[in-house]
Amino acid sequence: MELKNNTVLITGGTSGFGLEFTKRFLELGNTVLITGRNQVKLTETKRLFPQVHTFQSDISKPEDIKALYQQVVEKFPDLNIIINNAGEMRKLVLHDEHELLDITREVEINLMGPIRMVQQFLPHLKKKNAAAILNVTSGIALMAFPIAPVYGATKSGLRSYTQSLRVQLKNTSIKVFELVAPGSSTPLNDKFKEVDGFSSSGMMAPDIIVAAAIKAMQKDKLEIYPGLLRVFRFIIRLAPQLVLAQASKIGASAMRGNPLLTAAK
Ligand SMILES: NC(=O)c1ccc[n+]([C@@H]2O[C@H](COP(=O)([O-])OP(=O)(O)OC[C@H]3O[C@@H](n4cnc5c(N)ncnc54)[C@H](OP(=O)(O)O)[C@@H]3O)[C@@H](O)[C@H]2O)c1
Repeated sequence: MELKNNTVLITGGTSGFGLEFTKRFLELGNTVLITGRNQVKLTETKRLFPQVHTFQSDISKPEDIKALYQQVVEKFPDLNIIINNAGEMRKLVLHDEHELLDITREVEINLMGPIRMVQQFLPHLKKKNAAAILNVTSGIALMAFPIAPVYGATKSGLRSYTQSLRVQLKNTSIKVFELVAPGSSTPLNDKFKEVDGFSSSGMMAPDIIVAAAIKAMQKDKLEIYPGLLRVFRFIIRLAPQLVLAQASKIGASAMRGNPLLTAAK
């Protein structure tokens, strides 16, 4: 699709991939609207890119999505592209105590958020001659990632939803893209730096991933696998147990549970 003269709404546009999407879409001559929870980060992004339009909005709250929709379609009726990017990844050791409401926080943000965004904006997008939805999933959507169990579940869920959405929107003007993003050196990964077995070496820079996504959108490639993920996805299919064993080494000491029982085995 033509990536010029569009009006693009990016959730989580203040950091990492979202910030890179903001830069690239502006450079290409689009109107760019971004969301985020933290007003300080939104103001800083506006300072860096005065053309950007900012909206404080929490994707995990349905009332925020409704309010965002009202403001956006009123001020920017030409909106035709949504980038569902906002996300969070937490290290969760399931042996620890967790509040029942808190344990599913990533489900609200990473899975319910994009589903609700699509549902809210779909009637509007359907009126456009050319429109697109891009959902940011992850290489982790293709496998399990034991140290971030809820995150992994949300990304697999979002991938499944995205594929169904694409089928259901087949006869509309809306293209449904999925960015299956590889690990990248963004603030999302900062809290994993101390986790044993976790390494950020070999991660791709966010600008390279976003450049690949933009290029793929321009060529109407609906499933986007930047960098080594092109190969890695076949390895996951061929040797899933091997991949799971490798992924299980990350944070293994924290996940071990009762050390006495583990030692006895
Ligand atoms: N980095 C990686 O290795 C990697 C790999 C694969 C996929 N991904 C996916 O890529 C997407 C972006 O991640 P990133 O690495 O760029 O993370 P990041 O640098 O931490 O940025 C996350 C962005 O989302 C916003 N956000 C978080 N929770 C939100 C909420 N409830 N409502 C609205 N905005 C929210 C943040 O702003 P506020 O905090 O102000 O709300 C921020 O702008 C995520 O979906 C992530 O799962 C990342």
